[in-house]
Amino acid sequence: MEQEQKKKILSLIQPTNTPTIGNYFGAMCNWIKMQEEFDCTYGIADLHSLTVRQDPVKLRAQIKESYALLIASGLDPERSTLFVQSHNPNHSELAWLLNCYTQFGELSRMTQFKDKSAKHPDNINAGLFTYPVLMAADILLYQADMVPVGVDQMQHLELARNIVQRFNGVYGDVFTMPEGYLTKATAKVMSLQDPTKKMSKSDENVNASVSVLDDRDTIIRKFKRAVTDSETEVCAREGKDGIINLMSIYGGATGKSFEEIEAEFKGRGYGDFKLAVGEAVADKLAPMQEEYKRLSADRSYIETCMKQGAEKAYKVSRKTLQKVQKKVGFVVF
Ligand code: TRP
Repeated sequence: MEQEQKKKILSLIQPTNTPTIGNYFGAMCNWIKMQEEFDCTYGIADLHSLTVRQDPVKLRAQIKESYALLIASGLDPERSTLFVQSHNPNHSELAWLLNCYTQFGELSRMTQFKDKSAKHPDNINAGLFTYPVLMAADILLYQADMVPVGVDQMQHLELARNIVQRFNGVYGDVFTMPEGYLTKATAKVMSLQDPTKKMSKSDENVNASVSVLDDRDTIIRKFKRAVTDSETEVCAREGKDGIINLMSIYGGATGKSFEEIEAEFKGRGYGDFKLAVGEAVADKLAPMQEEYKRLSADRSYIETCMKQGAEKAYKVSRKTLQKVQKKVGFVVF
């Protein structure tokens, strides 16, 4: 009963590359918090990741790693539904149907499509173009009330809302109208080498980003090398993007406010501060890394979770798909 009254949350992440501390303080921490209050479904968007060429061996490893990392970071596969998108064929099926209710013009306006096709001019495939439709299928299959996303996905969420309005307008109340929930990051995390750019897991400069699986020494070394400025004062003043970034990360790892951080490092210089940030991040990640190590040694546990997650996801989403199939006029048994 209680389960039914809770609002439904849904979100997926792509399994490309190991998450950075930016993903951790952004998406992952929020996902974990939300399971206290909501009925959550979280997934690994492996279908989406195929829109860019992937090495099959690496992709398979990344899917397992991402899944295990979510559990290691605190997602409870009993309480929430944790699944791999390609394990549930309903996603591809609904995506096809929704393709027929989405306009070429709408998809042409998606900024991510324009950016990605500029970045990969040799592989502007149809999947890259219809990517937001698959994302809409992900959301609508579970009748999600709320979808935590970063700003970069808001336009896709708007498109999903337009599809709902259009589809429900023709066939009645089929899909729940999803609300975007802009995740307030515990810490806004920028590149350590160029603090005006978001930290990205695909950055070519290895010193620019910190992965959640980097070991303690690596983490500390990367923070020591972080770009700052030619002053000496740890404070959040305009123009001090590097220091502000480090303060934000330190705040995320320790829960301290900017005022507290400024007081703590008054008169102490950048060297001390950078070391403290590195140590705080390493300490914060240590329990998850331990748990990840333990889970990686137990393959059958992860496999069992994946199978159970897929079953749960299939059951819920099949209901929606069949409803849609009936509405559009298919013969449904
Ligand atoms: N496109 C999202 C991203 O790259 C991942 C994603 C796929 C997603 N399906 C989703 C996010 C459904 C929210 C809801 O970040």
